[in-house]
Amino acid sequence: MSDELKTFLEGLDSLARECEACKGQAASLKELEEIRVEYLGRKGKLAQNMQTLAKLPNELKPEAGRKANEVKQAITAMIDAWQDELNKAAAAASLSRFDPSMPGRKPGVGSLHPVTLAMDEICEVLVGLGFEHATGPEVENDWHNFEALNIPQEHPARDMQDTLYVSENIVLRTHTSPVQIRSMLNKKPPLAVIAPGKVYRRDSDLTHTPMFHQIEGLLVDREVSMGDLRGTLTAFVRQLFGQKTDVRFRPSFFPFTEPSAEVDISCVMCGGEGKNQDGSTCRVCKGTGWVEILGCGMVDPNVFKSVGYDPELYTGFAFGLGVERVAMLKYGIGDLRMFFENDVRFLEQFA
Ligand code: PHE
Repeated sequence: MSDELKTFLEGLDSLARECEACKGQAASLKELEEIRVEYLGRKGKLAQNMQTLAKLPNELKPEAGRKANEVKQAITAMIDAWQDELNKAAAAASLSRFDPSMPGRKPGVGSLHPVTLAMDEICEVLVGLGFEHATGPEVENDWHNFEALNIPQEHPARDMQDTLYVSENIVLRTHTSPVQIRSMLNKKPPLAVIAPGKVYRRDSDLTHTPMFHQIEGLLVDREVSMGDLRGTLTAFVRQLFGQKTDVRFRPSFFPFTEPSAEVDISCVMCGGEGKNQDGSTCRVCKGTGWVEILGCGMVDPNVFKSVGYDPELYTGFAFGLGVERVAMLKYGIGDLRMFFENDVRFLEQFA
C-alpha cells in the first residue's frame, strides 16, 4: 500500500476515534449540534479530509472513498445515538416532574340560564294543572297582536305598550297574548294552553329591557267562572312559591279581558311583613308586603267574536306573567340587567 493512502486512511481512523472521545460531552441538543457541525458540517473535519482525497492519484481514490464513507456513516450513527439518549433523558426528566397526586384542573360545566330555569319550572306546574303548550311567531301582524285582542287602531290602550314596528302592519309582538288568538283559531273549545316566549317593547331602563319573556295562559270552556280563574292561579302560585304564599287579586284593566285583575303574592323576601328582620323597609316589596306577579281576567266577548267563538256559549280566562320577574323573586336577584350581561360568575350559581 502506498504511504500516501496509508496516511489518508489512518487520518480517517483517528478522526473517528477523536469523535468517539466526544461521547458524553454534549449536555444539550444544542451542544450536540455543535459537535455534528464540527465533524460533519460543510467546512467540518470530514469535509477537510475529502479535500485531501480529491488530491490523491486516481487509482487510490476508490479505496480512500470507501473508507471515507464508512467513517462518515460511523460518525453519523454515533451522533444520532447520542441525540436519542439526550431526548430520552429529557423525557424522563419531565416525567419525574409530573406529580400524579396534584389535583387536576376542573373543566367548566355549563348551566341553564335562570330565565330558562324559571320558564321550565312555571311550565311544569301549569302542565301539571292540565295546560298544553302553544306557540306563535315573535314577528307578528297588527291584527293578532292588537286588533283581534280588542285593541283597535287609535285605541288609547295601544299606548300601554311601546311597540317596535317592523313595518306599518308588522310588529315585534309586545306580549304573548296573540298566541291566544292563534290557538283559538286553530282549535274549538274546550281549550287550555300556555305559551311561553320572548316579547319586545321600546323600553329600556333599570327595570325594563327591550326584550323579555312572558308566559301566557288561556282556558276556554262552557261555564268557566272568575272562581275558576282564582282557584287555578292560587294553586299555580302556591306550587311555584310555596303553599304558605298569600294571594290577592286587585282590579285592573286589559282591553282583552273583562273583568281584569292583577295578582299579587305575599312578598317572598320579607314574608309579607314589609320590613326586614332588622326593622328596615323591605326593598323587594317597598314595604307593602305584596309583589305583583301577573295580569289576568275573563276573556272579553269581543275577543271571542274576532276568532268566531260564540260568547253566549263560551267563557274563559287568560293570564300573562313576566318570567324575569318570577326568576328575580324566586332566586333573589336584585338587578334585571344580570340576566342579560351573562357574567359566568353569576350564571355558574345556577349549575
Ligand atoms: N298581555 C298582558 C301584558 O302583557 C298580560 C295579560 C295576559 C293580561 C292575559 C290579561 C290576560 O301586560
